[in-house]
Amino acid sequence: MNAPRNTQYRHLEAHKIAGSMGAEITGIDLSQDLSEEQLADIRAALLDNLVICFRDQVITPDQQLAFARRWGDIHLHPFMKGMESHPEILAIIKRPGDKKNFGGAWHTDQMFSPSPAMGTILYAKEVPSAGGDTLFANLYLAYESLSDGMKKIANQLRTVCVGDNFRQADGRTRVDRSTSQSGDMQVKDPGEVQTTSIHPLVRTHPETGRKALYVGGHVQRFDGMTEEESLPLLNFFMDHAIRPEFTGRIRWQNNTLTFWDNRCTQHFAINDYPAETRIMHRITVCGDKPF
Ligand code: SIN
Repeated sequence: MNAPRNTQYRHLEAHKIAGSMGAEITGIDLSQDLSEEQLADIRAALLDNLVICFRDQVITPDQQLAFARRWGDIHLHPFMKGMESHPEILAIIKRPGDKKNFGGAWHTDQMFSPSPAMGTILYAKEVPSAGGDTLFANLYLAYESLSDGMKKIANQLRTVCVGDNFRQADGRTRVDRSTSQSGDMQVKDPGEVQTTSIHPLVRTHPETGRKALYVGGHVQRFDGMTEEESLPLLNFFMDHAIRPEFTGRIRWQNNTLTFWDNRCTQHFAINDYPAETRIMHRITVCGDKPF
């Protein structure tokens, strides 16, 4: 591998995959029970690189769950049904003929929850021969590159984040825009679970202390403003946050597992494989209330 190596870890190697973020990790077998030292290195690699991927991991749903549980409690998706055998795992499935894909808009996971997901652990079961990549954007860089004047404005704003109202959704509900015609992915009623929340636009990462511009497709408006009033500035922040130099991508292979930090990144699943199947197993780990 020609990518620059980062040799500061004792139990793994991290090979950077883009200038802004992202690394491929070698030296870890996720089918094994990892030691505390290995876990500490994975945590450091995640905090340093924001998105880390592990290739050629042959793991079962139970092994993926065991790895995820080392990071915290598992978050259940309020709108999507998990796998029958493993309700904590969401099978993301797109088959030939399905027009839409799940996650095909810039967002950060569970931003609409009072305590959004800390991280997402996505495992590739079956990927198309080409395409189906996931894009990521570094929200630290998005904040740090703002002018002092704009930082001052951003620091004061709070966002209203809505689970069933992606800003790009044209008023269609989750059921209307259900991605799967084959019925492989089923939408559910969230019941009493809270799916609208207000968060600071600039959040401080609880582990690194760095500030991130916490925007994504779930943001409907700024707190205390109408949608119309919010939109021009919101559009600026959304466009700014995905400038190409802040982004990177994961090119999936079967058995790639990617772990990303939702507290400082956004992601976007590319829908560019109309005639092929893509099957992923997703687990989200509970996080803290943003501050
Ligand atoms: C997601 O938004 O969690 C799905 C990402 C993907 O399938 O690449």
